[in-house]
Amino acid sequence: MNRLATRWSRALAPWALALGLSSALPALAAPAWITLSADALAVLQRIVPQAQVLGQAELPVAVPEGPRSAALRSATETVVAVEIDEKWLEILSLMVHRELQRCGGYVFHPTRAEALATLHRLQTQAAAEPLAVGPAPSYVLDNPQQVAPLMALLQGSHLIATVDSLAAFQNRRYNSSHGVAAASWLAAHWRSLIPATRRDVRVVEITHPTWAQKSVMLEIAGTLRPQETVVLGGHLDSIAPGTFEGSRAPGADDNASGIAALTELIRVMMAGSYRPGRTLRFIGYAAEEVGLRGSAEIAADFLSRADQVVGVLQLDMTAFQGDSTDIWLYTDYTNAAQNAFLATLVARYLPGFTVGYSACGYACSDHASWHTRGFRASFPHEASNANYNRNIHTANDTTAVFGNNPQHMLKFTRLALAYAVELGSLPRGLRGAAAAP
Ligand code: BES
Ligand code: ZN
Repeated sequence: MNRLATRWSRALAPWALALGLSSALPALAAPAWITLSADALAVLQRIVPQAQVLGQAELPVAVPEGPRSAALRSATETVVAVEIDEKWLEILSLMVHRELQRCGGYVFHPTRAEALATLHRLQTQAAAEPLAVGPAPSYVLDNPQQVAPLMALLQGSHLIATVDSLAAFQNRRYNSSHGVAAASWLAAHWRSLIPATRRDVRVVEITHPTWAQKSVMLEIAGTLRPQETVVLGGHLDSIAPGTFEGSRAPGADDNASGIAALTELIRVMMAGSYRPGRTLRFIGYAAEEVGLRGSAEIAADFLSRADQVVGVLQLDMTAFQGDSTDIWLYTDYTNAAQNAFLATLVARYLPGFTVGYSACGYACSDHASWHTRGFRASFPHEASNANYNRNIHTANDTTAVFGNNPQHMLKFTRLALAYAVELGSLPRGLRGAAAAP
């Protein structure tokens, strides 16, 4: 990987120059623009030697010093932008999976300009100062009296029920009839959780212009600062090798388990008549498994609005306990201050449970869509990157792998609940009469 990175930095002009170089080459039938890590690029070039490299960025990241260490050291991740024919994307995922023994991640960009802009943002965002958001919240735990009663309502049986419902779809691919139906089911299910008396809560189905599956968003309008929003999300799609319609991709862990946690949060907030001071938005993203496409469009849309996003939490894989440590905070493509806040939430609201630090090494889930656009994002994960659930992206990603047991999911649901309420409620002094429960 080092050797490769050096080779590329010598071979390539800065990204702006590389743009001119590649435009001289013939147009592709269905061009696609992706960003990927240097080791995945090496795999790609073996399959598609003619793939055009457009440029690269060195992303400064904090990575754990050791698997159990909270101490972080500075490192860099190389990100490369490439133009290839869209037909190679699926085989690229398969090959990266086989050769690098990890998931085959690439981030999809709708245009060459967007791919290059992503590199540029990653490079210039080095200082990691959030661009698109207002002042950092205090991260003081000041709402235990609102968190506790909701915690008491969480039930593992509901988590399993949601996972079962989602896993029952043949697959949840972004462009299959099943994937479309699964998103519609989720929208209807979230709507069914809203009592008729709650005029402040609504479900929005977000249409994406270039594929059929919708993203699903449930909003609870803030009572005091509705323009400030806290986002909790996870992808609703699933994937496994095979045809769009025929492949079997239950995606129980990846990521029915994250959607189940969000769904249970919504359920207890409605059952407990919770009214946040800031607007809460729960999002089931479409098309994560094909390059973070749904969350990319949504994060870009938030960037173009006046809303202030206080923080973003990503739940992707919460059911399978891969290590003895309970909750793993991924340090790349995330915000260090918000990650520290999550660790304090675990200490306060999940006493006895342990936190570890790990990293994907590439933009592995929707938190990266937010992070690359300057939002504060975090990614608490079920396992270290060394010990992730190897059944994902296959027909065997079922509840059987975690013994049909909701205990691990419950930890992430509790953490997400604490996050949503501590950030969603304003401190007592700022609350005023309107916020009294
Ligand atoms: N849930 C995975 C990411 C993941 C897997 C994180 C294992 C940590 C451990 C996600 O759904 C996924 O598969 N992501 C892709 C990348 C994406 C950009 C297509 C991946 O990892 O290859
Ligand atoms: Zn996945």
